[in-house]
Amino acid sequence: MRKKIVAGNWKMNNDINQTETLIDELLAKKPEHTNAKIVIAPSFVNLQAAVAKTHGTDIIVAAQNMHQAESGAYTGEVSVGMLKSLKVNTVILGHSERRAYFGETNELLAKKVDTALSHNLTVIFCFGEELADRQSGNHFNLVESQLREGLFHISEANWSSVVLAYEPVWAIGTGETASPEQAQEMHAFIRNLISEAVSPAVAQNVSILYGGSVKPDNAAEIFGKPDVDGGLIGGAALKANDFLEIVKGIA
Ligand code: PGA
Repeated sequence: MRKKIVAGNWKMNNDINQTETLIDELLAKKPEHTNAKIVIAPSFVNLQAAVAKTHGTDIIVAAQNMHQAESGAYTGEVSVGMLKSLKVNTVILGHSERRAYFGETNELLAKKVDTALSHNLTVIFCFGEELADRQSGNHFNLVESQLREGLFHISEANWSSVVLAYEPVWAIGTGETASPEQAQEMHAFIRNLISEAVSPAVAQNVSILYGGSVKPDNAAEIFGKPDVDGGLIGGAALKANDFLEIVKGIA
């Protein structure tokens, strides 16, 4: 059975105090049992504190990005070894903001994916079309090329360390969500593509999250679709109550 996951991408929000307070709140309010695995992705500088706070709990701490090189003269960057030394074993790669504002291409992401997987990290691989692609009917092609160029080169065995996050760019931070039907349509397309390009077993086992303006009032309906295995949550992940309501949306 594939895993149900709700991941909070905190983006460039929360200083150290706010990070610790939000984790304290999550731990205090979280039911003992949740149907979804909970992942939180604070900024790099707060990862160490987040790992310490969540030690011994079932909350997983992820990084929002990492560099493709093992080490070297890359001022301002963070390596896979640095993450591992903090006991951070999950990384978000390819978020649309990284693609749009920091020039991350499919080719670059393929290298980051390789580096992460070669160190046994779990990769949450993000992709999704822009509004113009959807309006012109090019969204399936675009998503297919993002997956083929950034991810499909990995070995079949490595797929067990990959989680997909479909995030239509037009729905991120805009308050406009894909309808549950639009999400399901794309998730089914992705699973079918993986079945053909990789294997039916991988397609059945890979978790595909939806991201883009998921809120407490729309989560359950989106998560109720058969090919949606959870969500990647931005804005609503910054409030413990909202995030935990969304987690409850996983039946
Ligand atoms: P949002 O962000 O929930 O604020 O739309 C989602 C994301 O960027 O992962």
